[in-house]
Parts: sequence; C-alpha cells; structure tokens
Amino acid sequence: MDSLNKVSHQEHRLMLQRLGIEELRPGPSGNPDDPNAANSDESKAKTYVSLPDPLVFENGSKVKNKADWEMRRDEIIALFEKEMYGKVPDNVPGVTWKIISEKDTLIGNIPAVERKLEGIVDNSGFPDIEVAIDLTIGFPVKVREPVPVIVEFGWNFPGNWGRQPEGPTWKEQLLEKGWGYAILVPTSVQADNGAGLKQGIIGLANKGNVRKPGDWGALRAWAWGASRAMDYFESNKDIDASRIGIEGLSRYGKAAIVTMAFDPRFAIGFIGSSGAGGAKILRRNFGEQVENLASSAEYHWFAPEFVKYAGPLTVNDLPVDAHHLIALCAPRPVFISTGDPKVEGNWVDAKGMFLAGVHAGTVYELLGKKGLDTDEYPGTGVMLDGDIAFRQHEGGHTVVPNWPWFISYAKKYFEQ
Ligand code: GCU
Repeated sequence: MDSLNKVSHQEHRLMLQRLGIEELRPGPSGNPDDPNAANSDESKAKTYVSLPDPLVFENGSKVKNKADWEMRRDEIIALFEKEMYGKVPDNVPGVTWKIISEKDTLIGNIPAVERKLEGIVDNSGFPDIEVAIDLTIGFPVKVREPVPVIVEFGWNFPGNWGRQPEGPTWKEQLLEKGWGYAILVPTSVQADNGAGLKQGIIGLANKGNVRKPGDWGALRAWAWGASRAMDYFESNKDIDASRIGIEGLSRYGKAAIVTMAFDPRFAIGFIGSSGAGGAKILRRNFGEQVENLASSAEYHWFAPEFVKYAGPLTVNDLPVDAHHLIALCAPRPVFISTGDPKVEGNWVDAKGMFLAGVHAGTVYELLGKKGLDTDEYPGTGVMLDGDIAFRQHEGGHTVVPNWPWFISYAKKYFEQ
C-alpha cells in the first residue's frame, strides 16, 4: 500500500468511528478470475424486488403534473444530498477567474485560440489552503458569434488513457463544427483520494477540519467546479452559455451526471461509462456494488453518510437510485454512453445504465419529452436518440467512439 492509500485508509477508519459504524461489508472484486468476483451473470442480477418510483413523493402521493414534479425534484435533490453526494456548504468561498495565457494554435490542422484560466478561490477565511481551478478553453477561429462549448472533466494522466486511435480528436471534431471545447481538471478542485479531504475545496470550506456526516464528497466538489466554470461562461461574450455540455468518463462520468443533475444551466450531458454511483441502477447485483463505493478507495466521492449503505443498511434502503439522478436532468438531453462489455468488461454494468435510462423515462414523458422508447436492451452499435439517449459503442472503457454520435445528437438541440 503506498502512503497515499495508507492515509486514505486511516482517514476512512476514523470516519467510520465518528459515524459509529464498526465494519463495512467488503465489495466484490473487479477481477473476473477472483473467487469473490463481482457478479456478471444476468440471471442473478435482479435480486431487488422493487425500485423507488421518481414520480411518487416520499409521503406516497403521486406526481401528476409539472408543478408536482418541481416539488418532487426538490425532494429528490434533498435525498441525494443527504444520503449520497452531500451538500455544498453555505459558506463555500467565491471564485475569481483569471486568464493565465491566450494563444493562437493549431488543433490538428484547425486554427484555434486556446485560453488557459485559473479560478482562484477566496481563501481569506483559511489561508493555509489554496485552490486554483484549472480550466482550458479552445475557440474555433473561424466563428465570430458566441460558441457552444462542451466541457470535459479531464484526466490528468500520462499515458494513453482513452486516446484517439485514429481520425480527428474530440477537440478537432468540436472545432470543425464551429464549437468550442473546454477541459476542467477535477483534481485542481479536489483530490481524488480520502487523504486529500482536509485539503482542496472541501478542506477549505471546513477550514482544514474533517468532514461532518452530511458534507459533500469529491463528486459534488468536482460538479461545483464545473458550475464555477459555468459562471465564467455566463460572463464571457465569446461563449453562448445557453449551449454548454458536460462530458466525463468513469468517475468523471459520475461527476458529469452529478453536474447535470444539480445545475440546470448545463444544456446537455455526455455521460461516459459512469457505472456505480453514476448512471447505473445501484440495486442491480451486477458489476460494481455499493460496498465498493463505500470502501477506502472510493468513499471520498460521496458524503460520509453514504457508507452506512454498506454497513448497517443495504442498497435496498436507499430512497433513490440512478434513474432518479437521470430524472433530475429532465427535460434536458442526456446521452448515456458505454462500451461493449466484451471489451470493457462487466464492472460498469452497461445494462444497468440502460435500465436507469428506461426508468427515468416516465419523468421525461411527464414533461413532454421522449425517453428511451424501449425497454429492450439494444446491444452494441445501436443509437437510441430520445431526450434520453443511449449508445453502447464497440470499444472499451472510453467515450472516444461515441464522440461523433454525441456531436450529431447535440446538434439537434444546439443548431435548431
Ligand atoms: C474504478 C471504480 C469505478 C470508476 C473507475 C474509474 O474502477 O470502481 O467506480 O468509475 O475506477 O474511474 O476508472
């Protein structure tokens, strides 16, 4: 165990003590060859008896119209804040955006202007912690009017994670269309480990103290960073803030759907292989489980409260599931992306994401929009393009093959 893992592990233990939880159930293994491998047999997936209905209030009464939905929406938001992702603290400090550099460049062979920015968080309340949000925006030179922008939660990894095998990159595809791209580095907002919870924006708001049970986790903090980028877009005349999309893969796919769910200013979402804690029905016993999310490797994504679902409670006690999260995006379009399980593996549970889309459909329909329109799992290569869209591409743990599909999907909304 490296030292970062060790500190995360200790911090996780201390958190359990504060919550009065002695032990958590361990999650299954992501390695299909292990004796305790996560289930990948569809016939064993549906161990739950029921799914909570997004169109039924906590008190049992039904949501009948748009006005009811507005109230139910608030209720669902409060449930996700309390039970899963945590709340953005009232005292979270403000952000001042500064342009660090701006230069003419070529992306592929497309002329672009690339602007680097830093969102400096006011740390006058606790000067020991500095937070500077790392944001890059690329503009197509050929376009004169305000452009739509698709924001990616960027992996700051060396190596070829999700690298374009051939053909134009996502940046080139967007610029070619006359749209802008942006990359937000989530780890500049909040570290991706439990060891960093007393630092970053979560630590700053807590003045370096440990989290309280209902405090936010990294997913909500990353989404908060995206909302601050949105504030900048709204203030900038080169950008059309009514046409902003958010995209992410894997843990950042989770962050992308949390962003869409909590900030209605984002017009469209491209949610890549988000799996458990993102767009997959968590109650399904298939692939990653709530017990994995609650472990010392991943608990920092969530509010401390959430880990009780892997201890004294079970996933069936959760008052919400992933279809509620998708429903919070309604009526805005959301594209759920996944790879082919034969290539990507079963950990993300492609079908579980499809089913969450199916079950969010009733909310879209109530609002006069179109859900997935089928409950038959389409398999690889089929584009379901309602206001909830789903496409399982032929590749693995990446969004790359779905970029062209996402862009033509977004075009229907952005170029009417
Ligand atoms: C792990 C984790 C997933 C996560 C993924 C990633 O596999 O269990 O929940 O989505 O890492 O971010 O790549």
